[in-house]
Amino acid sequence: MTTGKIKLGVLVSGRGTNLQAIIDCIEQEHLLAEIVLVLSNVQNALALERGKKHSLESIFVDAKTFSSKENFDQELADRLKAKEVDLVCLAGYMKILSDSFIAAFAGKIINIHPSLLPAFPGLHPQRQALEHGAKISGCTVHFVDTGVDTGPIILQSAVPVNDDDDEASLSTRILEKEHELYPDAIRLIQENRLTLKGRKIIRK
Ligand code: GRF
Repeated sequence: MTTGKIKLGVLVSGRGTNLQAIIDCIEQEHLLAEIVLVLSNVQNALALERGKKHSLESIFVDAKTFSSKENFDQELADRLKAKEVDLVCLAGYMKILSDSFIAAFAGKIINIHPSLLPAFPGLHPQRQALEHGAKISGCTVHFVDTGVDTGPIILQSAVPVNDDDDEASLSTRILEKEHELYPDAIRLIQENRLTLKGRKIIRK
């Protein structure tokens, strides 16, 4: 990875507030990056509208038109490769990526997850944190490996869980942190400041 502008491909499925946070950081010149492609597996995802509003190539790819998940993921990979993407950012992308996709972008896929991993991986982590009675939760940016939310951790940010929190209020508090943390993690990669030792990431 160079210390020049990093080319990002962003995979989305939903409302796209993390995509928006990345866009805003780039536009405010807080992040030396260019989003060269936004791909969604959901046709009416608000994230696609956000991308288009900022003149980013934003495309819906319909999984139903592919004979297998591998073929669908191959299409995504081909589109990202054609754009010479340096880093694939999952931003609320709700499909598990196939091993072949992960191999094709080894060490170049990151995700943001709304819990302090390894606590509460998978779906509804905020609900899991509340049901478990956690007093602190937060968010994690991590590299993506073939497990679910198991890859090496890049950055984490903690938030308190209040006694009167429900899923919505905790999610909102975590989301505010997400919007800072995700661009921060991308910046560390863009500045080439991360080294992987085993599964531990060391910051230079
Ligand atoms: C975020 O909470 C993110 O951590 C999780 O999915 C949600 C996406 O939200 N992976 P948005 O689409 O970025 O608003």
